[in-house]
Amino acid sequence: MLDDLDPAALGARVAALDPAAAAARRDHLTDQLNHHNHRYHVLAAPEIDDRTYDLLYRELELLEARAGARADSPTQRVGATPLDGLAPFAHRTPMLSLANAFSSDELAEFDQRCKKLLGDDAPGVIAYMVEPKLDGVACELVYERGALVGAGSRGDGQVGEDVTHVVRTIRAVPTRLADAAPPDRVSVRGEVLFELEGFAEMNRARVANGERPFENPRNAVAGTLRQLDPRIAAARPLTFFVHSFGEVEGGAEMPPAHSGQLAVAARWGFRVNEHNQVVHGAEGAVARIEELRQLRRGLPYEIDGAVVKVDDVALQGALGFVTRSPRWAVAYKYPPDQVTTVLEGVGFSVGRTGVVTPVAFLRPVKVGGVTVSRANLHNADQVARLDLRAGDTVVVERSGDVIPQVVRVVPDDAHPTRPPTAYPERCPECGAGLVRADDEAATRCPDTLTCPAQLRAAIRHFGARHAMDVDGLGEKIVDQLVARGMVRRVSDLYTLDVDVVSALERMGRKSAENLLEGVEATKARPLNRVLVGLGIPQVGEATARDLARHFGTIDALLAASEAELQGINGVGPVVGAAVHRFLADPLKRDEIQRLRDAGVQFVPEAAPRAVGSALTGKTFVLTGTLPTLARDEAKRRIEAAGGKVASSVSAKTSFVVAGDAAGSKLDKAVALQVPVIDEAALLDLLEASGETQLSKGTRAEG
Ligand code: IVH
Repeated sequence: MLDDLDPAALGARVAALDPAAAAARRDHLTDQLNHHNHRYHVLAAPEIDDRTYDLLYRELELLEARAGARADSPTQRVGATPLDGLAPFAHRTPMLSLANAFSSDELAEFDQRCKKLLGDDAPGVIAYMVEPKLDGVACELVYERGALVGAGSRGDGQVGEDVTHVVRTIRAVPTRLADAAPPDRVSVRGEVLFELEGFAEMNRARVANGERPFENPRNAVAGTLRQLDPRIAAARPLTFFVHSFGEVEGGAEMPPAHSGQLAVAARWGFRVNEHNQVVHGAEGAVARIEELRQLRRGLPYEIDGAVVKVDDVALQGALGFVTRSPRWAVAYKYPPDQVTTVLEGVGFSVGRTGVVTPVAFLRPVKVGGVTVSRANLHNADQVARLDLRAGDTVVVERSGDVIPQVVRVVPDDAHPTRPPTAYPERCPECGAGLVRADDEAATRCPDTLTCPAQLRAAIRHFGARHAMDVDGLGEKIVDQLVARGMVRRVSDLYTLDVDVVSALERMGRKSAENLLEGVEATKARPLNRVLVGLGIPQVGEATARDLARHFGTIDALLAASEAELQGINGVGPVVGAAVHRFLADPLKRDEIQRLRDAGVQFVPEAAPRAVGSALTGKTFVLTGTLPTLARDEAKRRIEAAGGKVASSVSAKTSFVVAGDAAGSKLDKAVALQVPVIDEAALLDLLEASGETQLSKGTRAEG
């Protein structure tokens, strides 16, 4: 049934080709797959189904193993190694910003100004291109002789950051221009975006993984572009629209109008916005802006306005620039989207530190392309100020980069008859009396030890990627562990029993084993990560690193005086006091001791952990039987060299080490384009990482 997917059959077919035929087939498939990529990611009009695509992709990989890969091969989009940092990226011509217009009068003034500046050259009516103002992150992409050679973010307009490794992973970006005689060099500019559906899906997966969801698509784009690991970026569904050009050198002459030039970009294989339209005069522009405003709600991505550009490129040249913006274009910003809906009630959620946050439950409503059913009400003062009552009609606002807000109540006759929202005096989760410090707007549940809401949040925080990074500890699992009393404090994670865990909903033996393996692996986390995991108030990743670097060991930190803590570079009086208060609490000390008893090593910063080794931060997955190393041995040595061993393959995996009879993990690695290595390559990596010096004994024995 799965014959055509059988790698052996495909492998045999590829192996039977002579070298010339293999290279020819490779070229054919590279072109084919690039074509289908364009159909799918740029035109949204696929010609083949996903499975057929995957099969062709697999075949191409096999061919490339024999004949090498072409630079524009779809397999070459995702680099295998993360960067150490982002290099600067200089723009040959500055990336400008746009002046704003806020009314039709200001648009008319813009039109008048253009005519006046053009004088005798002004046409009777100026043709304008009106485009959606895409709410993403601006980037420049440089192509030389048709090949993508670099990409940089806008930065300050002169110099941005080199994000080539991330932009290459965007399937809507051609790695080669579809042009037999491309320009010698061309830079296109445009907007990197998430479409709302892909964004929502990505956030759902993050939450299920115990990771914090992104606040909004735009921030998520900015964060993704700065990712050092292209494999993480590749797993996120970014897209790209071209909206302008930097420079064009050589090649066929470009059309005289901006609209015509964008049509060339579309022929080259780029996404160009389908709602761009040429209109005539200020009136035409105003009418089109209004149409786009209507369209806005239904668009699959966020726009925050419209851009009006003089279409004739010669006129653009005549109009020129002022400081940072062109005189031939203007941005019309839409006001933040507001809608009315019914307030169904006000709830109160309890966070990790016990802070109680009021939440508005809304009848679901679409604002700016996303469905909103709750809004943060911040604190008691805000609820009182708005005088929110269940049943009220409320105005909800959402502008690009902020979470939905309840702006006000729409007054109606029934409002006074509705009962005012009562602020709880007891914790909605555990019933403890809430407290409010004089100097704080926040109300807190003081029961930091047993309140289930705080415990759930504390465990999620402990297991989060930037803290202890517990593989397999998703939100649903945490909820069950707490609800069933299996975990009453974070250290209980280390005493979980595989039989008991397997009995949880949506768990099987295998996932339970994976979770316990994930927990086990955290015992070797460095001190700074454990400090983040403990959830010390005011201590994030940077402070935890400062503390770990200064004290070296957990014992030295526990022995520190308040004054000493406050004197550390990067810590200061407020944070120092908070850390001291936390560590002086006998209950916290007891918990730290329990973690130690469970085997958490609080690995000292100064220990010879192959600092900066090739394996630091790398995640390995082992599959199949390795020729000489036992599983446990391989795992121990990878971890000793600073790497991590995970039980399942994901886009985060750095390497899959495959031995004999490797199974589905190998297939998954191939599908996700995770590099697959054998034992010999692993030993090379260990050697290069300096592991030999750290565990000479082991190697002498082996
Ligand atoms: S044209 C010289 N067109 O808005 C003008 N910009 O303030 C070059 N933007 O960061 C830009 N949609 O990236 C242009 N259709 C569009 C746009 C657009 C969004 C961004 C642009 C820049 C900002 C300008």
